[in-house]
Amino acid sequence: MNVLLPPTVNYFTGHIESENLLTKSTTLASLDGIFADQKAFDAIPGDKIIYQVEMLPAQSADGELNFGVSHIEPGTVGNEFHMTRGHIHERQEQAEYYFGVQGEGLLLMQKNDGETVIEKVFPGSVHHIPGFVAHRLVNTGTTKLSALAVWPAIAGHNYQAIQKAGFNIRVLKDKDGYSLESS
Ligand SMILES: [Fe+2]
Repeated sequence: MNVLLPPTVNYFTGHIESENLLTKSTTLASLDGIFADQKAFDAIPGDKIIYQVEMLPAQSADGELNFGVSHIEPGTVGNEFHMTRGHIHERQEQAEYYFGVQGEGLLLMQKNDGETVIEKVFPGSVHHIPGFVAHRLVNTGTTKLSALAVWPAIAGHNYQAIQKAGFNIRVLKDKDGYSLESS
């Protein structure tokens, strides 16, 4: 009987090793309108990579799960920390788990009624993201922020809804590390 060698994850970096690994880089240019300071945004080369995602080949069957990792580069646009675009699931009732691996940051979770919950992300942190909640990772540290994720294959991603509504909280760099600003 064959014993298979499964994919691996490096628990210090979050890097996934697998055949057919999918990778996607998100540049600053594709995040137009996400950051508050448009002047600062325009002054940074658009091809700068803000975050990268690695994931195992996508599953699609009902009941299946997907597995991936997001790596958010450190830095700011103006005084606003790098962050993911943020999304709510196409199937809004579908939940997700995030697992902090390296770096430090925040997970913003916002319900449709605007109620927001923020959790610290750090190596070893475990985050349950319930259904009906838009979510975004923010890198508040000086090194890469990496978080593993497991989500239902049928969940899908809706980026437009939350981009239109906007997240209520912006995370800004200040002398004490970060501050939260209502927007
Ligand atoms: Fe998600």
